[in-house]
Amino acid sequence: MTSHSLDVYGKGTAVWLQDDKTGWISAQLVSKDVSGDNVKLTFLTDDGKDLVIETTLTKLSKTNNAELPPLRNPPMLESADDLTSLSYLNEPAVLHTIRTRYLQRNIYTYSGIVLIATNPFQNVALYTQDIIQAYSGKRRGELEPHVFAIAEDAYRAMLREKGNQTIVVSGESGAGKTASAKFVMRYFASVDDKEKPQDVKKSNATASGMSEVEEQIMATNPIMESFGNAKTTRNDNSSRFGKYLEIQFDKNHNIIGAKIRTYLLERSRLVYQPETERNYHIFYQLCSGAPPSEKKNLDLGDYSQFHYLNQGGSGTILGVDDTAEFETTQKALSTIGITIQTQWQIFKLCAALLHIGNIDITESRNTAIVSETDQALITATKLLGIKTEDFRKWLVKKQIVTRSEKIVKDLSAQQATVVRDSVAKYIYANLFDWLVNIINESLSNEEVTKNISNFIGVLDIYGFEHFKKNSFEQFCINYANEKLQQQFNQHVFKLEQEEYVREKINWTFIEFSDNQPCIDLIEGKIGILSLLDEESRLPAGTDNSWCNKLYQHFDNPTCKKYFQKPRFSSLSFTISHYAHDVIYEAENFLEKNRDTVPDEHLTLLKNTDFEFLEDVLTKGSAITSPAAKSDAKRSSVIAKKPTLGSIFKASLISLMETINSTNVYYIRCIKPNEAKMAWKFEPPMVLSQLRACGVLETIRISCAGYPSRWTFDEFVQRYYMLVRSKHWGPDTKKLCSVILDDSIKDPDKYQVGMTKIFFRAGMLAYLERLRLDRLNECVTLMQKNMLRHMHKKRYQALKSSTIKIQALYRRRVAMSELKRLREEKAAITIQKNWRRYIQRKRYLRAKKAIHKLQIAVRGVITRQKFEDLRRNAASTRIQSVYRGWVARRDYKMTLKRIIYIQSCLRRRLARAELKMMKIEARSASHYKEVSYKLENKVIELTQNLEQKSQENKTLEARTTALEGQIKSWIERYEKLEADANNFKNSTKQSTIGIDEFKTLQNEKETLESRYRTSLENIKKQDTEIQRLTSEISKKDDEVARLRATTAKYKGAEDPATVLALKQEISTLREQLSKVKSGVRGTSPPPPHRQENGFLTAAGSSSLKLPSQSRRPRRHSSAEPNEARRKPKTSVDLVMAEAKKPGLRPVTVSYTQMNVPKIRSPSGRIHLPGVEDEPEEEIMKLLEDEETLDEEIINGLIKSLKIPLPSLQNPPSQKEILFPARLISLLAKQMWKFGFIKESERLFANVMKTIQEHVMDFEGDEAILPGAYWLSNVHELLSFANAAERDMLRGINPAAESGGKPFEWHDYERLVSIVKHDLESLEYNIYHTWMKELKKRLFKMVIPAVIESQSLPGFITNETNRFITKFITGPTTPAFSMDDLLNFLNKVWKAMKSYYVEMSVIQQVVTELLKLIGVTSFNDLLMRRNFCSWKRAMQIQYNITRIEEWCKSHEMPEGTLQLEHLMQATKLLQLKKATLGDIEIIYDVCWMLTPTQIQKLISHYFVADYENPISPEILKAVANRVVANDKTDILMLDATPLEDSGPFEVPSPREVTPPDNYLPAWLNLPHVKRLGTLAT
Ligand SMILES: Nc1ncnc2c1ncn2[C@@H]1O[C@H](COP(=O)(O)OP(=O)(O)O)[C@@H](O)[C@H]1O
Ligand SMILES: [Mg+2]
Repeated sequence: MTSHSLDVYGKGTAVWLQDDKTGWISAQLVSKDVSGDNVKLTFLTDDGKDLVIETTLTKLSKTNNAELPPLRNPPMLESADDLTSLSYLNEPAVLHTIRTRYLQRNIYTYSGIVLIATNPFQNVALYTQDIIQAYSGKRRGELEPHVFAIAEDAYRAMLREKGNQTIVVSGESGAGKTASAKFVMRYFASVDDKEKPQDVKKSNATASGMSEVEEQIMATNPIMESFGNAKTTRNDNSSRFGKYLEIQFDKNHNIIGAKIRTYLLERSRLVYQPETERNYHIFYQLCSGAPPSEKKNLDLGDYSQFHYLNQGGSGTILGVDDTAEFETTQKALSTIGITIQTQWQIFKLCAALLHIGNIDITESRNTAIVSETDQALITATKLLGIKTEDFRKWLVKKQIVTRSEKIVKDLSAQQATVVRDSVAKYIYANLFDWLVNIINESLSNEEVTKNISNFIGVLDIYGFEHFKKNSFEQFCINYANEKLQQQFNQHVFKLEQEEYVREKINWTFIEFSDNQPCIDLIEGKIGILSLLDEESRLPAGTDNSWCNKLYQHFDNPTCKKYFQKPRFSSLSFTISHYAHDVIYEAENFLEKNRDTVPDEHLTLLKNTDFEFLEDVLTKGSAITSPAAKSDAKRSSVIAKKPTLGSIFKASLISLMETINSTNVYYIRCIKPNEAKMAWKFEPPMVLSQLRACGVLETIRISCAGYPSRWTFDEFVQRYYMLVRSKHWGPDTKKLCSVILDDSIKDPDKYQVGMTKIFFRAGMLAYLERLRLDRLNECVTLMQKNMLRHMHKKRYQALKSSTIKIQALYRRRVAMSELKRLREEKAAITIQKNWRRYIQRKRYLRAKKAIHKLQIAVRGVITRQKFEDLRRNAASTRIQSVYRGWVARRDYKMTLKRIIYIQSCLRRRLARAELKMMKIEARSASHYKEVSYKLENKVIELTQNLEQKSQENKTLEARTTALEGQIKSWIERYEKLEADANNFKNSTKQSTIGIDEFKTLQNEKETLESRYRTSLENIKKQDTEIQRLTSEISKKDDEVARLRATTAKYKGAEDPATVLALKQEISTLREQLSKVKSGVRGTSPPPPHRQENGFLTAAGSSSLKLPSQSRRPRRHSSAEPNEARRKPKTSVDLVMAEAKKPGLRPVTVSYTQMNVPKIRSPSGRIHLPGVEDEPEEEIMKLLEDEETLDEEIINGLIKSLKIPLPSLQNPPSQKEILFPARLISLLAKQMWKFGFIKESERLFANVMKTIQEHVMDFEGDEAILPGAYWLSNVHELLSFANAAERDMLRGINPAAESGGKPFEWHDYERLVSIVKHDLESLEYNIYHTWMKELKKRLFKMVIPAVIESQSLPGFITNETNRFITKFITGPTTPAFSMDDLLNFLNKVWKAMKSYYVEMSVIQQVVTELLKLIGVTSFNDLLMRRNFCSWKRAMQIQYNITRIEEWCKSHEMPEGTLQLEHLMQATKLLQLKKATLGDIEIIYDVCWMLTPTQIQKLISHYFVADYENPISPEILKAVANRVVANDKTDILMLDATPLEDSGPFEVPSPREVTPPDNYLPAWLNLPHVKRLGTLAT
């Protein structure tokens, strides 16, 4: 098929060898011998057989290597999802790929533009709504191959090019065409195009999410299937007609209608069914599903009693409940708009047909007989509304009209049966057409037709058929397939050529087998069909004569290629169709083509009483005729009725016209086994189907040109290593040309286009070989270097250890030497010491002896000396005693003589003094005179003392006088103080009148002046006292002086008096100083105290004493206020802010605020303080509903500036909840004054406004208002709850006095309504809010969680591998994890700071996390070429960040929502080499279903350096998928953006006592005033 040079066949090359059983068998080249011209290749097949191919080089070059076996692809490619990406594109490769994929449970495979769908014969989890959504908006190739991808392609092309599209679904019976077509229809009907602008989206969607039209379109399926499908041996639900469904779109791309065209309903099935097959489902449904009464009416019973139903034998299908199906059919008919009556008329007609079949025709003498009393006949005619007798007559007779007369002839029983059956077939065919017509009318009326902008057609038509016996039906079918194949070939070819042109490469016309001659043979002017028509119109025409005509015309050499006459038959012919030669039996062609009913029956039926039948016949035939009209006119003038063949041809031509005017997409369904077994693959069967559906032909076409294409980038990525790295660079095109120049010498083998490089077949293999060689080379080089490195390392290690060992040894030797030296030295030392010891001992002995000798000698000498000394001393002593005695005797003698001389001298002197004293005694009178003089002096001094003490007394008296005076002053002062106290008391009494006060004041003034004068007096006295003190001190001095003099003379003269005086003086002094300090220190307090007193008075009484109580000396009350207003708190700041010009200054608390002027209802300005009663004012305020409403709605809700959330400095509850609290307050007031109706209106307005307001925001902006109002509404709800509780306790909120009459009943109703409404409002806000949040989050999830890569070092870029790092950097996704976490933070912060209940926060966050988990998991599941372990790491890291977020936000359990994703990432990172690894994966990922695991593993993106996952493992994983297991889902149920599940309204909050907090910046005078008054 494809050609490769012999070079590619190296040892170990895998190839495919033809095999009888399995088609192809894999083998490996074991040896290759090229000797001269001869070539000998030996292969070893997988089942262990040797096979030798011998040929010659010349032969090979002549046949373009056709004898060499096709090559097998590397395992990595063997499950490629696009056949065209295979390196070796050959039949076995294609087959093997489809097979491998099928066994891995991948039923879809692309082959270029064609989608190959292999029937799984089992329900697979591939068609849920999530998957539909996943494919929406994706390019083909982004996700796994799928019918949805084709549908999406068609849809996008329609939007893009504004053209019509067709999807052709073909394949054998039972291959899954109808199923695929239904999936395509379902896709269009239920896909929700996200890119579509919101406003043109379906508005009239029903519960299923589909619009009415879409539901109707889907409903056509059960209808068409029950009337047009039957059980055959090949398919339990085989469509016995072809169908082209146009889905019509308006200019907004909404489905607005549909149109069905049907082709060739198999009529013969109505009257005959082969063994085990069935008639059309509807009959069995009717027999088993009709209610008893209807059964009786229509005389129906079990299917087995009807001839038309029991021929096949079994009338039930395993697993199909006809009764239930009947209901489905009825429901579908109703959906289409067919009334129940009409439905029963249809069924009636069907019943009639069954009875016709039961008409018993017997034969006697070659004439058919039908009994008049035949029950079936009677019932049938009764049901049909025709005359029994006429019908019976024309059953057994025939009228022949010649030119002159009418002849009535009897019919044989066989002929009669044919007539009977033809009538039935005729009616049924008309009924079918009528149904199609009705469906079309209801799905595409005139209004719809006007608005159609484009349509997408789905063609579900039987594929090529070829049985043992082929008849007219097969002929028509194969004819249709020839046409479709031609179209397909042309399309593929055109695309191919277009690509060449687009890429601007030189191309030459590619040969492809055009089947036009075959088509000509069938439909040409003198073709098989026209001959058949001609023959059919001849009254005497027979199959035989027609067949002979065919031989005449076509059994010649020109047509030989397509038409042959079989050797052994004269009633058959062979046509060589593109897929196969088919032998047709000519028998019955004519009759089937004619498809006539005798005219008599026609008229009979036309004249029926059964109006419905008449309608069916006229409408039914009206549809078929116009199509054939033009054709009929042309071909034959005599033709009255068009033949089936011509009708079919005409409709086919029109179909081809339609298809050719549209873009076409192809789905080829393959039936993998005959037995309809799940996952069983029969290669020969598939191969023949691949051939028949033209897939192999396309491959052949592309192989003839340049089958392999690579974009520059792809090429560079794979083959960059073929050139040296110096060439690598960002310019891929240049790099490509370098690579190509370097590796391919023959320039014909490739062409460089605009964006791609085109290669001839086989070049890829060649390049692959080069690549492999090059890689091997590189590996060898690397190995070499590595080995060198290793050896060098080893050598170095060896060397260093040798040196170490040497050193160690040397050390040992040196140590022993050292030891020896040490021992020597020690010996010497010991010897030395010993010697020393001996010598010393000797020496000491000698020394001792000498000592003793010396001692003895010295003793003798010393003793001699001592004797001498004693003698000397004794002689000296004797001498001294003698000398002493002599000296003492001399001294005593001298002393005795001196004393005698002295006494003699003293006696002489005493005698002289005596003589003198005797003379002095004679003069005594002189002494008396001196004593007298002394006496006089004493007297004089005494007198003097007396005088002084007198003087002292007078001074004393004076001091006492002064003391008295001071005492009087003190008394006076005390009196004054008492007065002042009195006065203070008097002023304290508030009742004192102004006059009295004045007098008091005057009195005080006088007192004050008096006080001033006495102050002056005191000052004077002060100076005097000073003067006196100094005088006293002077006197004191004098006294002291005098006292000293007296003491001098008289000793202590009256000291007691002096002491007393002194004491007195000191006490006086003390008193004086006390008086002085009193004058300076104690006198100021009175005014001070006075001031204090007034201050307090001003503080407490300023409300009562209006502003005239201002006194010059007192602080005005404004001053302290001013001082107090120094901003301290934030609230004060707000107040300070409010004091700025332009804004109304408002204080926080109303009690302290300046009385505001407000407008009364009448418009006059008045001071509220002037209002007599607060109640009345409240009433008035409440009555002014408009203003109040306006303030609340506009000020408090609509234009409210929501406080910003903050976690560090959270706003207080009242700063957040004040709107709710104020509204509650108002409501309470309203109830109190009986404004029930008004409050109801107020609540309604408030709720409406809040709801609208919250809905106004979108995206990020919605976060704050949503949370804010959620919390506020909950506050309101809590209030309502409290009110209800009070109500149930019977507490009447109405005021005792004033107000409107209070209606308890109204109130009761109101409270319950309000509570209920608030609950709904909270619910609504939650949902709208969640919707916005989710919408916003939804956009972020995939870019942030799946696509963003925050782990440096593990960045991957799926398509761009190693080399791409030179070319492009990784693209950054639209959102990062930071964005996502920021978003969560924002939501969290808003809810936290707005006091939203923890339960709600948890609910919100859980829901958001769930959205993240599910959306990203589903996305990951669907991605191709993405799931690498690096990606998994990135995603895991991203999840960890979310987990951390959860943990740090008190919601660790939130991560449960991400468990699926977590496990998926683990799965991707785990090893997948052995079955044991897979077991581990199943254990670790216990949460994932087998399908999900299978999907992820089969999607695993193998890096260049990893081994691909082996097919065995993939198969094992696929086998784990359990058929029909409802729990084994693929996609998780997507969290709907619209619906956030049930909302648990949290329990009501504690209602705080009324608080009329209103932020300063809000200017709402009415509300404010009401608040003031209410609290
Ligand atoms: N994609 C599919 N998934 C599951 N079962 C399928 C699928 N396609 C076909 N089948 C099975 O094959 C049977 C035959 O398919 P059907 O579409 O009726 O074949 P056709 O129309 O080609 O004759 C269906 O009844 C269904 O059981
Ligand atoms: Mg079908």
